[in-house]
Amino acid sequence: MLKVGIVGFGFMGRTHYKCWKALDGAEIVAICDANPNIEEDTKRAVGNIGDPNETVDFGGLKLYSDFDKMLAEETLDAVSITLPTYLHPDISVKALSAGLNVMCEKPMALTAKACAPMIEAAKRSGKVLQIGHCVRFWPEYAKAKELLDSGKYGRVLAATFQRLGSPPTWSIDNWFLDEKRSGGVALDLHIHDTDYVQYLFGMPRAVCSFGSKTPGGGLAHIVTQYLYDDGKVVTAEGGWAMMP
Ligand SMILES: NC(=O)c1ccc[n+]([C@@H]2O[C@H](COP(=O)([O-])OP(=O)(O)OC[C@H]3O[C@@H](n4cnc5c(N)ncnc54)[C@H](O)[C@@H]3O)[C@@H](O)[C@H]2O)c1
Repeated sequence: MLKVGIVGFGFMGRTHYKCWKALDGAEIVAICDANPNIEEDTKRAVGNIGDPNETVDFGGLKLYSDFDKMLAEETLDAVSITLPTYLHPDISVKALSAGLNVMCEKPMALTAKACAPMIEAAKRSGKVLQIGHCVRFWPEYAKAKELLDSGKYGRVLAATFQRLGSPPTWSIDNWFLDEKRSGGVALDLHIHDTDYVQYLFGMPRAVCSFGSKTPGGGLAHIVTQYLYDDGKVVTAEGGWAMMP
């Protein structure tokens, strides 16, 4: 039985909780969250995917507010890292260095430079580091990949991806709206399509993005073109300024 800890028990922590609970070979034993009212706050419905009526049974779970303490006191095999993005590298490196497998939410980190120590720590430890790029596993997207790989409809001439919505405002101190901590619309939202485009078509030869900013200076909308040698035209668009 895989003993699992979840670090960061906001919206995605609860989504991971539900996923781990559905697996026969895994048991969630500990949760770490800096919020001292996590048990009470978990009753509030938040987030943009999943089931808001999902309940969490805290009985039998060890609760921590400090990750180092959790690492020192628990014997874990794996952790879900569902923390605000700017915290992913430090905590992932610590967990991998302690010999744990890591399932870390997307985006991996805020810069490619910050990803490097995570990859190094995974190589050093020989443990799994998986990033939560969930879209490629969603049934419609998986089917599109299967059809495309089969060649049934011939070669792709053009592909367009759109992910438009309102800004995420469920986090406790609104860290999502702080680009320095979340990466903003480019890294938090648009990255889903970046991952999927690369999964479908492989690494592009070149990428070019344009964005428009809000009066406050943050990126509100982004359009990216992916250039491939076979001449197909691939465009993805992401926006957080599309109010419901
Ligand atoms: N795969 C997806 O589709 C998807 C969807 C939403 C969010 N995400 C990603 O998941 C990650 C978490 O997002 P979220 O929506 O769950 O955010 P959230 O704000 O709902 O939850 C973050 C939790 O981390 C806790 N926390 C903050 N600092 C901490 C620390 N130092 N130690 C322990 N706990 C701490 C907070 O108290 C909070 O409960 C982000 O990287 C986000 O981009 C992915």
